[in-house]
Amino acid sequence: MLINLNTNDAEANLLYAAFSDRLIGIVPKMGNRHGLIAGATGTGKTVSLQVLAEGFSQMGVPVFMADMKGDLSGVAKEGKLNKFMEKRQAEFGIEYGFQAFPVEFFDVFREQGNPIRVTVNDLGSQLLSRILELNDTQEGVLTIAFRVSREQNKPMETLDDLRKMLTYVSDNAQELSATLGAVSTASVGAIQRALLRLEEEGGDQFLCGKSFNVMDFIRTKDGKGVINILAADKLGNSPLLYSTFLFWLLTSLYENLPEVGDAEKPKFVFFFDEAHLLFNDTQKAVLDKIEKIVRLIRSKGVGVYFITQSPIDIPENVLAQLGNKVQHALRAFTPKDQRTIKSVADGFRENPKFKSEEALLELETGEALISFLDEKGAPSMVERAKMLSPAGQIGPITEEERREIITKSSFYEKEAPVVRQREVEEKSEPKVKEEPKVEDKSSELLAEVESIVSEMQTKVDGITELKNKITEMRSVTEDATEAKDTIKPYLSEAKKLKDDANGLYKNVVKTVGASTDKNLTSLLKKGEKKYDDAEKALDKLKAEYDAVFKKLSELEKKEKKEDEKKKKWWYNLFISILHIFVPSSKKVLKKKR
Ligand SMILES: Nc1ncnc2c1ncn2[C@@H]1O[C@H](COP(=O)(O)OP(=O)(O)O)[C@@H](O)[C@H]1O
Ligand SMILES: [Mg+2]
Repeated sequence: MLINLNTNDAEANLLYAAFSDRLIGIVPKMGNRHGLIAGATGTGKTVSLQVLAEGFSQMGVPVFMADMKGDLSGVAKEGKLNKFMEKRQAEFGIEYGFQAFPVEFFDVFREQGNPIRVTVNDLGSQLLSRILELNDTQEGVLTIAFRVSREQNKPMETLDDLRKMLTYVSDNAQELSATLGAVSTASVGAIQRALLRLEEEGGDQFLCGKSFNVMDFIRTKDGKGVINILAADKLGNSPLLYSTFLFWLLTSLYENLPEVGDAEKPKFVFFFDEAHLLFNDTQKAVLDKIEKIVRLIRSKGVGVYFITQSPIDIPENVLAQLGNKVQHALRAFTPKDQRTIKSVADGFRENPKFKSEEALLELETGEALISFLDEKGAPSMVERAKMLSPAGQIGPITEEERREIITKSSFYEKEAPVVRQREVEEKSEPKVKEEPKVEDKSSELLAEVESIVSEMQTKVDGITELKNKITEMRSVTEDATEAKDTIKPYLSEAKKLKDDANGLYKNVVKTVGASTDKNLTSLLKKGEKKYDDAEKALDKLKAEYDAVFKKLSELEKKEKKEDEKKKKWWYNLFISILHIFVPSSKKVLKKKR
């Protein structure tokens, strides 16, 4: 059977996602019932996200995704068969088809994509005061500022406009207080300080006039839904701005879209990679609002999918609304991890063929426990399945390719200082931009090397995560014995990762060969450094493991000794009692001994 990957089979009418003993997929009309992709680092979450996003696009459903690590841009380019996929093709008895998808790149900071902006007025006083964490009095003052702006017909576009308006309000406090309510200068001061904070996070880039129409995200091209990719690596460092942005996006979509009831397929689908960043340190009021909007937006035909390491990163009330679940492997080092695994396993409708709790620890990369909603909206029985692979490229496209898409976009603004070259790691290295004459073949190689480098990075991340877990584990000695057994397979996994990285690196060297192309040699250098990092991380990991192991065997020895001591004590006690009650036993026992 040939499946053009992610093609929704007209007969089955499914968005194919994975394979167990058959193809498993999301029921299109349940696509707006939200979803979750979870799992430890390197287990395949981002790739699974790509598979689902491509599936929706293929169905003509436009998609929005926040790209936290810059590894989703590959969806704009046709993918290639690799060893991993070859193996799965044979296993599944299917053949992958590859294709590129229509993509728009956006960036609030305007470096890696076209701008998305909103005016202060459009954001509104309520949303703004939540983001600024204002109290009721301060919120009242902000509302007055908005009201004055409306009454005087002086719309506020930028943060600067708002600041000026606040100064005006403060200067005319007495007069305004008489008609609109109390205005204290202390409150104005507090708002100004909060604005400064928002500005420090780059909020002035986002709040700077000329509002973006969110409905522009909802477009199709040649029958495929446009995949809107928001560069969010920098945004992830500004939780306040990130949650503001998400908040605004969801709210404006909610306000602009009509009710659709039960549609054949979603109108629009959101994906938020590294979603824990969204919920970390986000104040309760914003969380409540996110939760509410996630609940309500379903009726507008919008599906929201969260991608995160552990499901417990997501507030319970939100989690409960996520019906389509792809759960990759979890690690179990600490008692807390074990509790998480138990609760994740309990959250599934059990399959008699396997124990979810055990499977969660055994899943390979790109393998997952899957439960999608059935036609009636009930969670289906959990399946252990292997994810399909994307039809687009895994890993990022090159800067050139990205820039071409950005400048050709209808959102491109020539005069705006867009598309600044992204910083290339070492300053001493020549920037890719400075080498405009790259031959066709070289650029292909470049892309390959870049994807390999990013793959290596994932592996390094994986190793680092393992290391952190071990460090954490060492502080909980009583659980150490158990943890030791858990950790062994991960060490060999890490070793395998290192070998993989080594293999990849050798491949790169072979591919690039004796090329004198500066781009290639510089990338090769980068690859080399990544590999070194991986190796160093592994060495450290091994040292940590050895230390834990040593500590444990000491612990075990100590325990054994104590056990023997205890046994002797009980034996002596028993004998003494026996002697008291059965004096004649003395002789018998003596003989026996
Ligand atoms: N379904 C898949 N098909 C092909 N390769 C995959 C698949 N899932 C994972 N991989 C490989 O594993 C690597 C790590 O996956 P990734 O999705 O980046 O992990 P995570 O986001 O969980 O850290 C990818 O770069 C890719 O090479
Ligand atoms: Mg990822």
